[in-house]
Amino acid sequence: RSVGIIGAPFSKGQPRGGVEGGPDRIRAAGLLSRLQHLGCAVKDYGNLMFEDVTVDEPVGTVKGVRAVGSANQRLSEAVQGVKRDGHTAVMLGGDHSLAIGSIHGHSAAVGELSVVWVDAHADINTPLTSYTGNLHGQPMSYLLHELHSKIPVLPNFSWIKPCVSARDLVYIGLRDVDPAEHYILKLLGVKAFSMSEMDRLGVARVMEETCEYLSARGRKPIHLSYDIDAIDPSVTPATGTPVVGGLTYREGVYITEHLCQTGLLSAVDLVEVNPLRGQTEEDIQSTVRTAVDLLLSCFGRLREGNHSLDYSLP
Ligand code: ARG
Ligand code: MN
Ligand code: MN
Ligand code: MN
Repeated sequence: RSVGIIGAPFSKGQPRGGVEGGPDRIRAAGLLSRLQHLGCAVKDYGNLMFEDVTVDEPVGTVKGVRAVGSANQRLSEAVQGVKRDGHTAVMLGGDHSLAIGSIHGHSAAVGELSVVWVDAHADINTPLTSYTGNLHGQPMSYLLHELHSKIPVLPNFSWIKPCVSARDLVYIGLRDVDPAEHYILKLLGVKAFSMSEMDRLGVARVMEETCEYLSARGRKPIHLSYDIDAIDPSVTPATGTPVVGGLTYREGVYITEHLCQTGLLSAVDLVEVNPLRGQTEEDIQSTVRTAVDLLLSCFGRLREGNHSLDYSLP
C-alpha cells in the first residue's frame, strides 16, 4: 500500500488560530516512520503554500470566502496529483473547509465516491443557513449535487462542481447539528449514525451497517473525512469546536480499522487538530497521538498486532 501525504496548514474557514499547525505536529509525532514500519510506501508532498488573500470582506455573513475558495482550488489540484501518482491520499488539516478541495480533487481523479464523514458536526450549512458564517461548518453543502440550487455565487468558488450524491454519504458521530442542517439531512434522506445510534447499536453494528449501505450502492472508492472533534474532548481536547459526549478512543479507532479492511479507502482527511487549543502540553499530545493512531489504523495497523508476510522466526 502506498500513501501520499499533503499538509494543508490552513485556518481561514474558522476564526481560531493554531489549526494551521496541525500538519507539522502530526508529522512530528512520527506519522511517516510509523506508516513505513507498517509496510507502507510513503511519499510526503509537503505543505501546500496558500495565496495571501489580503482583501477578503465577508460575503453576506460568510467569512474568508476568497481565501477558502483559493486554498481549496490549490488543494484539489494537489489531491488529483497524488491520486494520479497512484497513492491513497492523506490530507492533514487545517480546518474542515478543506474537505471541499480534498473531496473535489479526489472525485475529479477517480470518479464517483462514497463519503464517510466522522464528526460531531454535519458541516452541511449553506452560506444562507450558517449562524456563524464559518466555512468549516459548510463544506458538504458545496459538494452535494442535491444542494446545488441552494448555493449562491461566491468569489473564488466558481471552480467547484458538486460531485457527491446524498445517497453516497454517511455520517458517524453527530451530536451538534444546527436546525437547518437537521432539516437538510432529513430532506435528502442522508444516512446518519448520530451518537444516539452509537449508543443504541454499538460501534460494530454502526460500521457493519455503514459498509452494507455503501456497498449496496456499488463498491465506490471511499473518501474518509475525519474531524478530530468526533472523538470525545477528554481524549482530543486540542480542537476548535469541542463537543461533550463524543466517541471513545476505541470507537474512533474501530471505525478506521473497519474502513481499512474494506480495501476501498482511497483518500483520508484528518482535520481540526489545533495545537493552540490545548490547556496543557499533555492535551496537545493526547490529541496528536490519537490523530496518528487513527491514520495508522486506516493503513492496516491492528490492535491485535501486525507482522509482515515474510516474517520468519529466528
Ligand atoms: N455548525 C457550526 C457552524 O456551522 C459548527 C461547525 C463546526 N465545524 C467543524 N468543522 N468543526 O459553524
Ligand atoms: Mn466537527
Ligand atoms: Mn464492512
Ligand atoms: Mn468538521
